[in-house]
Amino acid sequence: MINKVIECSDINKKFEMFYEIWKNKDKIDFSKGEVKVFTKPSFASFCKIVPPSKVPRRRGFETNEKKAVLLHAIVHIEYSAIDLALDAVYRFKNMPKEFYLDWLEVAEDEIRHFKMINSLLEKTGYKYGDFPVHDSLFEAALKTQDLLSRMAIIPRWYEANGLDANEKIINRLQKSKDPFAKEVIEALKIILKEEIPHVSKGDKWFKWECKRKNLDPISTYFEIVDNFFKDWKKKDINVKARLKAGFSCDELKILSKSKIEC
Ligand SMILES: [Fe+2]
Ligand SMILES: [Fe+2]
Repeated sequence: MINKVIECSDINKKFEMFYEIWKNKDKIDFSKGEVKVFTKPSFASFCKIVPPSKVPRRRGFETNEKKAVLLHAIVHIEYSAIDLALDAVYRFKNMPKEFYLDWLEVAEDEIRHFKMINSLLEKTGYKYGDFPVHDSLFEAALKTQDLLSRMAIIPRWYEANGLDANEKIINRLQKSKDPFAKEVIEALKIILKEEIPHVSKGDKWFKWECKRKNLDPISTYFEIVDNFFKDWKKKDINVKARLKAGFSCDELKILSKSKIEC
């Protein structure tokens, strides 16, 4: 049933199907059933997929088109995040009920985030699908079919990166005198606050799996990250948000390119 929601590319229908499951989440047993691997993302039917380097650069906020490019990039992340949260519910079997409820809750947040940013995008005269997108998140999900690497790479890497990126965009927009920038900042602040629990849910289930497999969470995390990315040292870490989400200060020191205080 969940796979139908993930595969659905009619956005309104997708949300309707989700809310049906959301209403009945306590009664549904998500822990059993066959699982298949998806070969293409649901947005493939309405977005042109290009390599990340070919996605329009988010620069400036002076014209409608520049505003739309920024909002389109964010709306695409929120859309991708809906499918990814649902994929966690769908893919990992024999987990405690809490696991499924956690990721359904994340999916519900992502739908709200999508709607919020999408309505701002529409104010610029553009719509989702008007610019090419990359499918890095989908590809990352495809490469992480086991719980440990999925939790490490999707919530604990990509969504955590979102905490850093969100703060940077807010800081940049705060320099703009355009009243529309204020509206975008308001939405981004809500998203930033609500994304912290997403990362901490990933943190919780990553550590849960480490414990089950008798693995050290810090070294295991960096082993997975190192296998996944060539160059993973980061600058501009949102230390406060990441600490709240479950990262330890020691981890952030390993992660950061520059010296950080925490
Ligand atoms: Fe989100
Ligand atoms: Fe999220």
